[in-house]
Amino acid sequence: MSAAGATLDELETPALLIDLDALEANLAEMAAVAARAGVRLRPHTKTHKSPEIARLQVAAGAAGITCAKLGEAEVMADAGLDDLLIAFPLVGEDKLRRLTALAERARVRVSLDSVEVAEGLGRVGARLDRNMEVLVEVDTGLHRLGRPPGPPTAELVGQLGRVPGVEVVGLLTHAGHAYRARDPEELRRLAEREVLDLVETAALCRRNGVELREVSVGSTPTARTGAFVEGVTEIRPGTYALNDATMVRLGVATRDRVAVRVLATVVARPTSERFVVDAGSKCFTTDGMGTVPDWLPVAGRPGLHMDFLSEEHGIGHRTDGDDLRIGDRLQLLPSHACTCVNLFDLAYGVRGGRVERELPIAARGKVR
Ligand SMILES: Cc1ncc(COP(=O)(O)O)c(C=O)c1O
Repeated sequence: MSAAGATLDELETPALLIDLDALEANLAEMAAVAARAGVRLRPHTKTHKSPEIARLQVAAGAAGITCAKLGEAEVMADAGLDDLLIAFPLVGEDKLRRLTALAERARVRVSLDSVEVAEGLGRVGARLDRNMEVLVEVDTGLHRLGRPPGPPTAELVGQLGRVPGVEVVGLLTHAGHAYRARDPEELRRLAEREVLDLVETAALCRRNGVELREVSVGSTPTARTGAFVEGVTEIRPGTYALNDATMVRLGVATRDRVAVRVLATVVARPTSERFVVDAGSKCFTTDGMGTVPDWLPVAGRPGLHMDFLSEEHGIGHRTDGDDLRIGDRLQLLPSHACTCVNLFDLAYGVRGGRVERELPIAARGKVR
């Protein structure tokens, strides 16, 4: 039975809540940024793993979506989303067979950083009798995927141009290192550098005779700056849809724009200071645990502080001026929205203290 219409007090905990007013405001704001900058918005759906929210993003102006994994893209295509970027190197025959089937029913681009992965995609292109469009991932500082910008990437682009069955349409990067920025000035500098690294590399490729039409950048902390740097064609923020305590700490979201919360119940008060709720690392993961004082804030309760998580317990303490009893309910703002949402099958879309609709997290766990 659907929980639509229920009050928050009627929900069993722990429960994942998505505040629909905050969600809609977040989607509209980033869509407006992209429109003002004249770039396409291709949100990353790994944050919410929800086809309903992806459809809201498209309705708000997104030109397509980004997926982390093939399985996530399959779920989104099942729901009718038909312009997909899989921002992950696809390796192995099983994946290539699935990609072929997916590309028969949706427009799919894939990012990669090697000739080996391109050769596999080229075989998919041959089966489909058209080139697979690929974006070449560039390392602008995260040191995850990609070669450095400039000659190392331009050399790879040249090699990829000789792989049959693929077409290199552009460059892509994710400035995940911006999460470590210490202040807004450093964040702004990293965001500009993210785009300039790609634009300069694309110019080098052009001098080498290869025209690239896409410069795809983005993370939530850098997207609002990067969108306005000359040469970018697409931004791919993900976390912006829900936000989290990390975005608040980085100064790119306010607490009232954190759309995702875990509703938890106080199950123990072992000492006058300590309290324990029924949501632990199996609701949040330990991402960010204890790194900064407000890594897991309690909404509307500044006197309550979370200390640590075990699997099913969230342990915190109160300071003077706030108190609570067994049975009280708290809303915790996750440190990292994406890993938190992935732990739930269902989110409750709430407005005005009531569940408006259920949002299945249909692509949760789709790590293949
Ligand atoms: C390739 C890629 N693009 C875009 C994003 C979105 O970044 P954020 O969640 O900071 O918005 C991510 C996040 O991990 C990513 O890996």
